[in-house]
Amino acid sequence: MRIAIVGAGAIGCLFGIRLHNSGHSVILVHHNNRTIASIRKRGVGLRELSGTNIRAHIEVKRSLSKKDDPDLVLLTVKAYDTEAAARPLRKSIRSNGPVLSLQNGLGNIETLRRYLPAESLLAGTTTEAALQTGPGQVAHTGKGMTWIGELGRETSKRCGMIKNVFRRAGFKTQASKNIEGVIWSKAIVNSAINPITTLARVPNGELLRIPHLRAISNETVSEGSAVARAHGVSLSPDPRSMLPQVLASTKKNRSSMLQDIEAGKRTEIRQLNGWIDSLARKLGVDAPYNRILTELVLGLEQYQSQ
Ligand code: PAF
Repeated sequence: MRIAIVGAGAIGCLFGIRLHNSGHSVILVHHNNRTIASIRKRGVGLRELSGTNIRAHIEVKRSLSKKDDPDLVLLTVKAYDTEAAARPLRKSIRSNGPVLSLQNGLGNIETLRRYLPAESLLAGTTTEAALQTGPGQVAHTGKGMTWIGELGRETSKRCGMIKNVFRRAGFKTQASKNIEGVIWSKAIVNSAINPITTLARVPNGELLRIPHLRAISNETVSEGSAVARAHGVSLSPDPRSMLPQVLASTKKNRSSMLQDIEAGKRTEIRQLNGWIDSLARKLGVDAPYNRILTELVLGLEQYQSQ
């Protein structure tokens, strides 16, 4: 299969090298020229959980062209870059895609729908944990689960095919008939891990170990779940049971938000707690933990950008 991966960050490189090594022709797409130059020179490097290091030379470019004609596009850019990634994609994909979003956060599919034909889109999410150690260099820091699904509540041949491709590349994958519920559950779990690990500057596992942090995390999950229910979302799996599992399987990982702050970048707080807080206000539901976490991370971003 020809697979284009738009976003050569931690998750993009993890999927890229595994898919390349399982026999697919992979093209990485990235907006940053220095990252592109570094990947061209050094290749993509992955430190597996076992400690084994693998390296592969994978094609990397700034944008896709019609000639690339991918059979599948994986979108792994940050949620705030969805629009910038989607706009040029329209010209370089087939009308039925498929374009599969494997991003964190809420609102990605709604943004993609403004630029790409609805029939080309598949939604997904992953709890695989990866730590970026340099441009194109990642460590796999926690085994997770990847879910994919059609936007409507049906299964499809293409989801089944992508599920098998991911499984053969070593990713536990499920096709879901309720991908909206899965994306919301994962976003709620992220909203209860990422800002807290960022503000406390701790790896994910500390949220299981330190009662003060665990309490805030649990309250944030309860609030997010109430907002999702008021919005008519049927959460799957239940974020309250998903949270301790994700924390345990990614205990050594530094969350993507903490990695962003440490790299002086902006974060996905607007697409996580910020999204939940705005929706809570519209629905008249109380979400003080989400509001405070949003304000604190926005404040930290602003402080860093001065
Ligand atoms: O954003 C992240 O860091 C990841 O989604 C996860 C699964 C919480 C692991 O750190």
